[in-house]
This record gives sequence, C-alpha cells and structure tokens, in this order.
Amino acid sequence: MNKENNNLMEKIVSLCKRRGFVFPGSDIYGGLANSWDYGPLGVELKNNIKKLWWQKFVTQRDDMVGMDGAIIMNPKVWEASGHTGAGFAEMLIECKKCHQRYREDILEPKVCPACKSKEFTEPKSFNILFKTFIGPVEGDKSIVYLRGETAQAMFVNFKNILDTTRKTLPFGIAQIGKAFRNEITPGNFIFRTREFEQMEIEYFIDEPKKDSDWQKHFEYWMKQVKDWMKMIGINEKKVEDFEVPDSERAHYSKRTVDFMYEFPFGKKELYGLAYRTDFDLKNHEKFSGKDLKYRPQEGQPFWPHVVEPSFGVDRSFLAVLCEAYQEDPSTSFNGVQDKSLGASRVYLKLKPYLAPYQAAVFPLLANKPQLVQKAREVYQILKLNNQQPTTNNFNVSWDERGNIGKRYYAQDEIGTPYCVTIDFDTLQDDTVTVRDRDTAKQVRVRVQELKDFLSKRIWS
Ligand code: GAP
Repeated sequence: MNKENNNLMEKIVSLCKRRGFVFPGSDIYGGLANSWDYGPLGVELKNNIKKLWWQKFVTQRDDMVGMDGAIIMNPKVWEASGHTGAGFAEMLIECKKCHQRYREDILEPKVCPACKSKEFTEPKSFNILFKTFIGPVEGDKSIVYLRGETAQAMFVNFKNILDTTRKTLPFGIAQIGKAFRNEITPGNFIFRTREFEQMEIEYFIDEPKKDSDWQKHFEYWMKQVKDWMKMIGINEKKVEDFEVPDSERAHYSKRTVDFMYEFPFGKKELYGLAYRTDFDLKNHEKFSGKDLKYRPQEGQPFWPHVVEPSFGVDRSFLAVLCEAYQEDPSTSFNGVQDKSLGASRVYLKLKPYLAPYQAAVFPLLANKPQLVQKAREVYQILKLNNQQPTTNNFNVSWDERGNIGKRYYAQDEIGTPYCVTIDFDTLQDDTVTVRDRDTAKQVRVRVQELKDFLSKRIWS
C-alpha cells in the first residue's frame, strides 16, 4: 500500500471512530482482534445500503421473493453443501518452534513473522466454519455450525417457497444476514472479518431444460451487479471483472466472476457472481431424502440450476466510504475561511439517499428563542414526513452547538447532503437557507416548499 492510500485508510478508520460510524469491537476490554461494532451513524448508512438493495432486488421485481433464515441450521446442511469438507478450508502451515499457523500461499518469504524460524510443518487443511454446541453437553452429537454463507437457507427452503408462492422459473430468492468464517488472515478494517453480513440472491433458472440458458442469465446478473454499484456511488473505472480460473473456484461453481474493487490497500474482491449449477439442490435432496425438484407444467421434474450474485454488506460500506471521502482545501464557510476548522474541509460525498442524515436543521443562533422555536417547527415538518409511509422518507438531524461554520463542518464530515439554517430573515419572509454539502453553495427556499425541494434532490 503506498503512503497516500495508507493515509486514506487511516483517515477513514479514524473518521469512523470519531464520528460514530464504526468502533473497535469490545472496545473497553481492549477490543477483540478484527471485530467491529457499527455505531449510531454506521448503522444508518448500513441500513440504507441494505434497504436500497432490498428495494432494487426484491420489492421492485415480480420474479423475486425474500426470506430470513436461521443462523444455526441442522449440521447436515453443511455436509450436503460441502462446507464441512476440504472445499471450505484453508491450507495452513505451522511454525515448528512457536506453533503459529499461517496460510501457506501468502507467507512470503517462508520465515515465521513471530519468531523468525524457517521450519514449518507440511500444509494441513483447516476448515473455516465456526463450530459451537447445542444444549449443555459438549459432544460430537451436539456440534452445530454458524452459517458460512446465507445461501444455504435459500436452497433448504426452496420447496417451502415454491409451495407457498407458486413462483415459476425463472425466479429468485433473496436474503440479507450474517455469515461467519474463522478466517486465518482477517484484516483491513471491515474488509475481511470473521463475522460479516451478506446480501445474496439464488436465481433459479430453466437450465438444464433450456440448454445454455445460464449464460444469458449470467450476463444479465453481471449487468445488474454493475447497476447496483453505480447506485451506491462506486466508480466503475475502479472495478475489474476477474474470471476466476478453474483451480481457484469454489467447489460448487462452474463459472465465477469476482468484481475486484480498487480499495486503498489493493484490488480486492468486492462481490462475486457464480453459476452454482444444480449442485446444492441435488445434494440437499440426496442428504435429506426430500424431493427438491421443480415440476414444470409439461415435461419431467428437474433440479433447476442457479446463478448467484453475492454482495458483502461490510465491503459495500467500506467501498462507499472510500469513494465518498473528500478533502477540499479551498472551501471556506460563508465566504470566510474559519481557521479553527483546520486547513481543509473534509466531506463525505455519499449518495444523498445513503447518508445517515439527509438533512440537518440549525437555528443560526442558539441563544435567540425566536430562532430556536422557528427552527424546531421546521425540524418537525421534515421529521413528521417520516410518519407517513412514503418512498421519499428521510432522516433529519438537529444541531445548535457552536458556531454555524463548525456545524456545517460536522455535517459535511458525516455526509449530510443538505443543511437548513433558520435566521432572522426566516422570521420575516418564511424562507430558510439550504446549503449544499458538495458545493457549499446556499439558496433560499420557502418553508412551504422545503420538503419537496429536499425530496426531489435526495432521490434524483
Ligand atoms: N454464497 C457465495 C459466497 O459466500 P463468497 O465469495 O465466499 O461467496 C461472497 O462471499 C461475498 O461475501 C464476498 O464477495 C464478500 O463481499 C463477502 N465476504 C466474504 N467473506 C468475507 C469476510 N471474511 N469479511 C467480509 N466480507 C466477506
């Protein structure tokens, strides 16, 4: 990682902690390596990403249904899916002197980073599913696993969903939820953790009935993944499609494309798209003894094949922040450079609909009761919008601390696209100042038109 990129990561991690996006997990106990907690602003941004995804891929489509499965499933699920075997394992070598374990493929040069010894065991397979126990007795019979991917709940419920929704091919099942992997080399902030969230789709297609149908669907989902990236503000020039070679593909996949994003620490997998064939349904039928075939109106029952776009929530969150982080040395506040604010303005150029707050409302002066009262009224007008189940809901923040420049600065740093200031003119003509986060330009808007004015810009 070069110095500039290293700095960018440091700045993002520091902003996340300082402003309540992401805290080190179990912070007061000195943390737990590579675990992170999403704070008040982080959970808003993360929820907005998930809501938008659900809207785009589930509620706005006729061919998709959602579900929310259990994290702990019957252990047979993971045998059938191949996750308890070598397919979901890392090859590890152990230092003979200090017994630290490392991934063989990334330890270069082959000298133990902990004790500098050069003597290692032969590589051994280490399964990365997390084990735990059901009931009070720890024994082989009570071993269960935390799910290693959300996908399996969708295969296991294929029949239930078919019976209850009467969907016909092609159709998809979508799910958002946590997945767990005992990763050997977690790191780079929230990029690779042992506990993370996935947004996954299992899209069931007419293959093998219609030969080579899967290629058409594969191309379609490539485009959908790209459209999604655009919606959350990811620069397509920073994304490369990587055709995963046979030797590196997951055990279930016949074709995989990884979408590699230029993170500050290198080009790494952001999302994946896999053609899982009928591997999962076929194996679940074999292991459960239950018929999981699809019965078309005409012809023989068959196991539909699957195209699976898989999106990491935490990696989306990180990529969104990497794209959004901006420093603007030239901008002043109200035309005057405020020295107390530091040399440059930091702002998060988030898509307005993803920002934790879409607007902030301030009285110009906190010690003038008429201004505070009027500002409260405006705040309520915008807030009340939230009580109606409309599509253009937004989240509003209130701030009356410090001077106006500092309040703008604080909102810029968390990505609030619009700041609404109530001043003495407001009391005369019922207009407010609306300041744009990216340009720092201000316009006067009538209170009556404010909600519409903001909604249009937030969702444009
Ligand atoms: N069901 C397919 C599947 O799980 P994967 O490539 O192993 O495929 C899919 O994971 C996505 O989940 C990745 O592209 C990434 O966004 C996210 N992901 C995987 N492992 C992760 C980890 N340890 N930490 C954070 N996100 C992870």
